[in-house]
Amino acid sequence: MHRKIILDVDTGIDDSLAVLYLLASPEAEILGIAATAGNVPAAQVAANTLAVLDLAQAPPIEVALGAAEPLAIPLRTTEDTHGPQGLGYAELPPSPRTLSERSAAQLWVELVRAHPGEVTGLCTGPLTNLALALRLEPELPRLLDRLVIMGGAFNHPGNTTPTNEWNIHVDPEAAEEVFDAFSAAPPHRRPLVCALDITETIEMRPEHLIALGQAAGSTPSETVGAGDPPEWRSAASDPIIRYLTDAVRFYFDFHHQYDLGYLAHMHDPFAAAVALDPALALTRPATVDVELTGTLTRATTVADWAGMWGREPNADIVIGTDPAVFFDRLVTRVGALARRLSQELPA
Ligand code: BDR
Ligand code: CA
Repeated sequence: MHRKIILDVDTGIDDSLAVLYLLASPEAEILGIAATAGNVPAAQVAANTLAVLDLAQAPPIEVALGAAEPLAIPLRTTEDTHGPQGLGYAELPPSPRTLSERSAAQLWVELVRAHPGEVTGLCTGPLTNLALALRLEPELPRLLDRLVIMGGAFNHPGNTTPTNEWNIHVDPEAAEEVFDAFSAAPPHRRPLVCALDITETIEMRPEHLIALGQAAGSTPSETVGAGDPPEWRSAASDPIIRYLTDAVRFYFDFHHQYDLGYLAHMHDPFAAAVALDPALALTRPATVDVELTGTLTRATTVADWAGMWGREPNADIVIGTDPAVFFDRLVTRVGALARRLSQELPA
């Protein structure tokens, strides 16, 4: 099924895979991309996103710069998780593409108004831009076809504080405004929420990079591991595989450093796959709110699964999936894109 997508990212290693996944998916039509401050500052997010579009030889796609700061608190970034520029050990050349003249919030509002009922919004970063867009156009929950959010942690520990997931932690006021606004969405338009409960089951491992390389026809086959020195760089013949190896290896090293194994959680590409095919996800409705005042629990997402608050559900939380199906799609699609592009390269 053809899907018009607005992507809101804080590119970021896993965000970059989400972008590549969408570009590699024939059913996805990316209408525009909003760059949100988060993993790295907004300007760096925008630069990374444009560079990834170049890497994938994407057609012109509008990329709009988002707010420099969250709604109510100073920006916190996480170069230790995503690398100095946000792309792990990878360094991509600066893009000749230019940024949109409209703001990220304007991009959201104007694109959704232009295609009422047709757009899937996909947020893989903090919700700052979407919250600002909702202030401009409170009807967005009824104008969007669907919203997919990577964010939150429900019956699961946080990855930033004991109870906070990163995207919500960076801008909890924005997340609260978004979930509150989507209380007005009809049941079939409730946001699909991919929280850590599910995205931490999406474990990418070195074997997946090898499979991507094979699918792309890239040589040599490279097996990365915990013993590789930080300065090691991929020599893969295919530029996309070279990028992915250098970017994802940093994410492996980060997870390994926190005793999670030599793997990386593919939060954002999973959310992208769900945006294109909600059938990948088993969901359960709940009323979601964000704690804004707790001294220990500020920015925690709380799900009322049983209707104890007496409020209608405002989210469909993903509670199950088959990670192997997702990885099969990631490898097949991104591998095929890489193979096609390298065959088109001049000799
Ligand atoms: C989320 O935080 C970011 O660091 C990742 O890109 C992902 O969107 C996971 O908590
Ligand atoms: Ca992200």
